[in-house]
Amino acid sequence: MYRAPRGTSDILPQEQPYWRYVEQKAASICQLYGYERIDTPTFEEAQLFSRSVGEETDIVEKEMYTFKDKGGSELSLSPEGTAPVCRAYVEHGMHNLQQPVKLYYIATTFRYERPQAGRYRQHHQFGYEAIGDDDPALDAEVIDLAWQFFKSCGLVGLTIKLNSIGCKKCRPGYLATLKKYYSGYVSTLCSDCRIRLKRNPLRLLDCKNPSCQKITSSAPRSIELLCPECDGHLRQLKQYLGLLDLPFVENHRLVRGLDYYTRTVFEVQPEEGGAQSALGGGGRYDDLISKLGGKPTPAVGFAAGMERIILNLKKQKVPIPTLPKPQVFIAYLGEEAKDEAIKLASKLRREGIAVLEALGTRSLKAQLRQANNLAVKYALIIGEDEVKSGKVILRDMITSEQKTVSPSELERLLR
Ligand code: HAM
Repeated sequence: MYRAPRGTSDILPQEQPYWRYVEQKAASICQLYGYERIDTPTFEEAQLFSRSVGEETDIVEKEMYTFKDKGGSELSLSPEGTAPVCRAYVEHGMHNLQQPVKLYYIATTFRYERPQAGRYRQHHQFGYEAIGDDDPALDAEVIDLAWQFFKSCGLVGLTIKLNSIGCKKCRPGYLATLKKYYSGYVSTLCSDCRIRLKRNPLRLLDCKNPSCQKITSSAPRSIELLCPECDGHLRQLKQYLGLLDLPFVENHRLVRGLDYYTRTVFEVQPEEGGAQSALGGGGRYDDLISKLGGKPTPAVGFAAGMERIILNLKKQKVPIPTLPKPQVFIAYLGEEAKDEAIKLASKLRREGIAVLEALGTRSLKAQLRQANNLAVKYALIIGEDEVKSGKVILRDMITSEQKTVSPSELERLLR
């Protein structure tokens, strides 16, 4: 028997109301903040991600679905949405548009990870990017959008974690200080961290290993070594977040798992959060567009995992509106009546009334049982008499009341 590949899942009809709900909340909040939808391909040149997300990251090193196509091009299924959007920004000359260009997406995303609750090999991200301005007010707006989005979904008890990891001017100094600090603890570090110390020291800060975390608790903090510009940016941002009444907690260990960030990084975490539980994360990436061949262009964005949002909606028992289903079922008695039923179903659908119809030669009793199981409000019954008179029986499935009605009356009543 075939099964969905490990780490992927079917989104069955009973799950769909959650997806429609979150997608609609995402679309309406983006509209409020002036973001327009963009869709990028499911796969891109593999190099796009190694250049942007970073060669030394888990995503690029271990998690990408990379393959050669029949023409020999090396492609990867998108492990995230920011690099493709930036590629599109450059490719379509969007620097000629009014800046910042504000784009959002809901995209399927692939990472070869060890599957567990909230972590899959195929997941979906709602993300948005504001490209073309370095004003900290834009960082604040991006964080505000995330906060208002989760709030509009009905989620409570969330925290915003905030940090600044500096820019290409001040970060080298910080990394050197960090390396020096951790070098004193090499023998206590886990094997991954020993590699991080050489290749990606920033990532030492978010190691989940308890013995490494102990060392990290007194590690030098990036905010203590920011250049005056980055320091000013962070100060201003915090002021704006205060103006917007957004509750945030500074966390010097927050560094994110992608290498393109500069200055602001932030994550939104639910109350009972484990290591893998961030609802979403984002930050500023002022050097990415130029790295991808565009003019130097500052930018900031955020993405949240759809599956994790839905997991939290369920955990918090947020009521989700059901999707509309047909409320009318057509039953018939005999071949001639069946012809009339087929015609009536089609006529009502063309008039915009959703209907279901019986099939086959089951008894009327069995057909009404089916209508009951489908939880429709009304059954329309066509028997021999109705074929002759051109009328139908309208049965209220809740009260079992029935009356014979003409086609025009029927439409009026159903509406
Ligand atoms: P990220 O933190 O790697 O950031 O992913 C964003 C969100 O996607 C996570 O917070 C999480 O909710 C969800 N997510 C990530 N991996 C998985 C997984 N394996 N299974 C289920 N959900 C997952 C980015 O991807 C950046 N592009 C965000 C960004 C946008 N930064 C700037 N603009």
